[in-house]
Amino acid sequence: MINIESLTKSSINLIEKYVPGESNFNTNKKFIKLSSNESPFNIPHKVCAKIKTLIMNSNIYPDGDSKILKKSLSKTFNLNSNQIICGNGSDDILSIIAQAFSKESCEVICSEFGFIYYPIIARTSGCKVIFAKAEKLGISCKNILNKINKKTKIIFIANPNNPTGTIIFRDELIDFLNKVPKNVITVLDGAYSEFITDCRYTDGTDLVNKYPNLIVTRTFSKIFALAGLRLGWGYSNSKIIELLEKIRGPFNVNSIAQEIGSLVLQEKKFFVKSVKHNEKWRKILPDKINDMGLESYETFANFILIRVDPNKFSKLKIIDSLKKKNILVRDLSNYKLDNYFRVSIGSTSDLNKFLRELKRTLKV
Ligand SMILES: Cc1ncc(COP(=O)(O)O)c(C=O)c1O
Repeated sequence: MINIESLTKSSINLIEKYVPGESNFNTNKKFIKLSSNESPFNIPHKVCAKIKTLIMNSNIYPDGDSKILKKSLSKTFNLNSNQIICGNGSDDILSIIAQAFSKESCEVICSEFGFIYYPIIARTSGCKVIFAKAEKLGISCKNILNKINKKTKIIFIANPNNPTGTIIFRDELIDFLNKVPKNVITVLDGAYSEFITDCRYTDGTDLVNKYPNLIVTRTFSKIFALAGLRLGWGYSNSKIIELLEKIRGPFNVNSIAQEIGSLVLQEKKFFVKSVKHNEKWRKILPDKINDMGLESYETFANFILIRVDPNKFSKLKIIDSLKKKNILVRDLSNYKLDNYFRVSIGSTSDLNKFLRELKRTLKV
């Protein structure tokens, strides 16, 4: 037997496999899935109607440059299409960035309680991962800045942050970007940015032309309800985008995702409905949870974080008894948030059922 571990970069051996939110793929039972921050809505019928023709034409490779999609994105978000890169989900873009900008034995900074995929891609690229302490469960710009040194290559920040739902507002972000050395690539992951209605927020696309080390990533998996199709994109200055385009897979976005993504961007009513639904529930859900004796926090995304006091309840029992009622939530133990779980903002009926069952579980 060969020792496989000796054949890889040593940092790769430190990687723990990404564990997605629990799903119901292996059963016929109908589950309420509140474990992966997906949209509770199906994409509009008008958009789905195109899929058959697209599948029929799948004998042909997709456009490697995703031109139609870039055009739609640039129109929708008022961006330059030569500053956009498209990917097979935003995790594809994140991984391309890590490949492009990290060197072995350099450092990548992530936040404590940050998105768990960042350490994976950093270590895959041979880097050491440095965790900056969070503050009140949120990302601390100050603690990140304190961790920067000559070896730092990339900083990954999700804004809002997954899994805590916290946010960094524009003023603080600009102050932070002013202090980050220009040779340190700063990635602002805006997977949940479309949900935000607070005018103090920016996803960073408007800052890209001012900060040459800034890359913004976005996804179609959340508000645009296309998690299963895998579609994401990145925005930066044209030099960085040119570099990333050289590294990506030749046909990294399939033709169905390109076309459906372009169409879903035109569905303004669907977008507004999704924002309104999220806005309503992100405001009322924490209070309802707190009334039951658990602890929940303000969120800026499409999920909420819940803390279980281990002296009062057992988190695992709660998760398990919800599962017995076919409701899946996300245990956050692998985020080192041992007493916490996360719940996506699902449909109204799914959330009402979740609240009913949660109440029943806590009373038993
Ligand atoms: C902060 C953050 N970034 C990126 C992703 C990956 O999204 P995608 O489906 O676009 O790969 C997720 C998924 O949950 C996420 O929470």
